[in-house]
Amino acid sequence: MPVASRTQVGIVGAGPAGLLLSHLLALAGVDSVVVENRSRAYCEARQRAGLLEAGTVELLRSVGLGERLDAEGLEHDGIYLQFLGERHHLDFRALTGGRWVTVYAQTEIVKDLIAARLAAGGAIEFSCTDVAVSDVTSDQPLLSYVDSSGVAHEVTCDVIAGCDGFHGVCRPLIPGLTISERNYPYAWLGILANAAPSTDELIYSRHADGFALYSMRSPEVSRLYLQVAPDEPLDQWPDERIWAELQKRFATGGAWSVSEGEITDKSVTAMRSFVAAPMRHGRLFLAGDAAHIVPPTGAKGLNLALSDVVLLANALRALFKDGSWELADAYSGTCLQRVWRCTHFSWWMTSMLHVAPDADAFESQLMLSQLGYVTSSRAAAQSLAENYTGYQPVRFEL
Ligand code: FAD
Ligand code: DHB
Repeated sequence: MPVASRTQVGIVGAGPAGLLLSHLLALAGVDSVVVENRSRAYCEARQRAGLLEAGTVELLRSVGLGERLDAEGLEHDGIYLQFLGERHHLDFRALTGGRWVTVYAQTEIVKDLIAARLAAGGAIEFSCTDVAVSDVTSDQPLLSYVDSSGVAHEVTCDVIAGCDGFHGVCRPLIPGLTISERNYPYAWLGILANAAPSTDELIYSRHADGFALYSMRSPEVSRLYLQVAPDEPLDQWPDERIWAELQKRFATGGAWSVSEGEITDKSVTAMRSFVAAPMRHGRLFLAGDAAHIVPPTGAKGLNLALSDVVLLANALRALFKDGSWELADAYSGTCLQRVWRCTHFSWWMTSMLHVAPDADAFESQLMLSQLGYVTSSRAAAQSLAENYTGYQPVRFEL
């Protein structure tokens, strides 16, 4: 017989979305259990996003998660856009009246969230198998799983939050989903290197041979990406080839160069846009990558996942504290407005900066013209800056 228990919110997935939801619910006095199929070490080491919108930073600070973020995060006032061998600076603080972005890796947010939940006595079950959700249209949906020591559990919940990423088990439980999707004809090869960044802010570079992005993790560690073919085998990219390609795509004709060092991580990520609607069925609510994916060029995926969670936490607080379904009923529609804004921005940044394999001279000239426009018109730069630093940030209501 499975061990039976109950909680208010059963959360599937201990990524940034599931963990933050559990944290916010605890602040609102709502119980939850997080069930994750990977180990804690795996979740804490998974290399992914690195850039936080100003609103995400303010949110994390306001809920007691700002200490290490403030000590170790790198605040950036803007970015560089490079094309035709010239680098142009966009000053977000000046363009937006004070907004910025902060480099702080997703791995660090996940570590901070796990530490905060465990210190507060929160329940996170890592390394589970057979995770399943049922009865989502009843008043008491069920979350079942087998824990890391092989014991089966059944948790009766009031609500289930599907925060289990793109390949999770929750999205398929929503009947009649409308899927809107675009696959891009390129991928990103990402590296982490022990090399002090030779730039003060991120560089997004469009080069005739493809896009490149210069990011960082700390004053000693660089994070760099190269546009490659979607099915690019990693063994075609020995370290020397990666550095040579990066030097070429970031060159501006002067003495400046990308600083090189030992490569400690190397991976290829496919690029896709994906939106599933609605994000709710009965008492099952989806948040983050479980419902939508954006290509990484606009640095939106993580920020979008955390915005969903704030809206969901507000809705569940109102449900459990005031007995009101109003925000829960509005949840999917409210999220999807933001999701589509970010989907457009990410698609636009991606199209403008990458070189599609089938692009002709006409398309390339359009993209170069657009880059020329955002680096010469204040109005165009303001629009980019407003979206990049976070349009209409959400607030957690305690
Ligand atoms: P996830 O982080 O995917 O978390 C979902 C969790 O659910 C995981 O821990 C998973 O193990 C768990 N899970 C899955 N299935 C089950 C199950 N059946 N039972 C229990 N648990 C389950 N965004 C950017 O902004 N910039 C980037 O550079 C960037 N790079 C990325 C690179 C990669 C390879 C990927 C996949 C994503 C990247 N993203 C990037 C997107 C960003 O990392 C995501 O938007 C973010 O992780 C979303 O958080 P999440 O919690 O919704 O999902
Ligand atoms: C990073 C990733 C992005 O997709 C991006 O647009 C900016 C920064 C990063 O990993 O640092």
